[in-house]
Amino acid sequence: MKTYLITGGAGFIGSNLVLLARKKGIRVINLDLLTYAGNLMNLESVINNPEHIFIKGDIGDRELVKEILNRYKPDGIINLAAESHVDRSIHDPDAFIKTNIVGTFHLIDEAYSYWLNLPEKKKKDFRFLHVSTDEVYGSLEPEDPPFNEHSRYAPNSPYSASKAGSDHLVRAYNKTYGMPTIITNCSNNYGPRQFPEKLIPLMILNAVEGKPLPIYGDGMNIRDWIYVEDHCEALLLVMEKGKPGEVYNIGGRCEKTNLEIVKTICAILDKLDPDPSRVPHESLITFVKDRPGHDKRYAIDCTKIEKELGWKPSQDLETGLKKTIEWYLLNKEWVEKTRSGEYREWIRKHYGMEG
Ligand code: NAD
Ligand code: DAU
Repeated sequence: MKTYLITGGAGFIGSNLVLLARKKGIRVINLDLLTYAGNLMNLESVINNPEHIFIKGDIGDRELVKEILNRYKPDGIINLAAESHVDRSIHDPDAFIKTNIVGTFHLIDEAYSYWLNLPEKKKKDFRFLHVSTDEVYGSLEPEDPPFNEHSRYAPNSPYSASKAGSDHLVRAYNKTYGMPTIITNCSNNYGPRQFPEKLIPLMILNAVEGKPLPIYGDGMNIRDWIYVEDHCEALLLVMEKGKPGEVYNIGGRCEKTNLEIVKTICAILDKLDPDPSRVPHESLITFVKDRPGHDKRYAIDCTKIEKELGWKPSQDLETGLKKTIEWYLLNKEWVEKTRSGEYREWIRKHYGMEG
């Protein structure tokens, strides 16, 4: 049985990855600080499983990381722990620098010492996979080709700049020390267990409560959407078959404007939540002040991972969004508990409305 150290495994993508890894028989050591975005409810089905060991802690805590590595001797590390919300990075970038750059540095530096001392076979097979974002490449014009693995880095927000910084460090540990690191850059994920500060869950929950649907600017910014489990399948495939030192772009080949996404959610909800006081849900759409430095368009060319590793996404937007909306409608307790005091405070501060 393989053992992976997964960091950030109580968050959105991390928890979906932990669940998938367990399904595939991988033993998981899960290191997560449980910030506002980390949630043990995401891990309910595996929390008492002896092959899933949860440790509350910081990736920047060298002593803790060292102890975990020496105790559980993982065959690989998948680093997802991060501050992940662009709007929060605009209000308050400190935590982004601390976790995404300094935290990743401490984690990889300890991982390097651990890797150096592994027996030959285990050393050869070890992988450090750093999970990054398409936002490091900046913004595309409408006619530009999608980002590929050679696109120039041009991050525009404190969040994407901090992710770019961590990507460079991870690359450097491969080039300088020969450590078997891999970077993946993925487009916008959606699916169950996403913290409702992000576009899709925010719109679903506001719509079913008859609250305004706040769209930044003119709603014409484009994102390339991927269902979270498809991303997680890609990550486990990269751990198995990816080549050290390489970068793999992951995306859903699904470019949509924000307005299209919100209107699609509204149309699905008109059927699933036909309360006449809220139908049509589209009437709740409200245009609000734009995000500063708002990237116009992201799009990912995922030919490399498709051709070299044989990956392809299994969900299209229609099936994926329907599954996602149904999950949020069914999991009322999760929603209630997730919208804690901190969440309500964020909604008040950022949108000036009640959360
Ligand atoms: P998330 O905010 O839902 O989860 C982040 C998790 O990291 C939380 O559980 C949090 O408690 C944990 N964490 C934060 N700081 C930590 C620290 N110092 N030590 C240990 N744990 C810490 O984020 P997400 O959307 O699941 O994103 C996960 C990763 O994937 C991030 O690195 C993000 O940059 C990347 N990514 C996200 C997307 C997306 O669309 N959500 C797309 C591409 C890449
Ligand atoms: O592209 C990958 C990235 O996708 C990840 O690296 C980030 O961690 C993740 O948060 C996400 O970043 P975005 O900024 O694209 O996601 P967000 O859900 O915040 O916003 C999606 C789009 O919707 C963006 O153009 C801004 C817009 N938006 C967002 C919110 C929260 C609105 O119009 N209104 C909103 O209230």
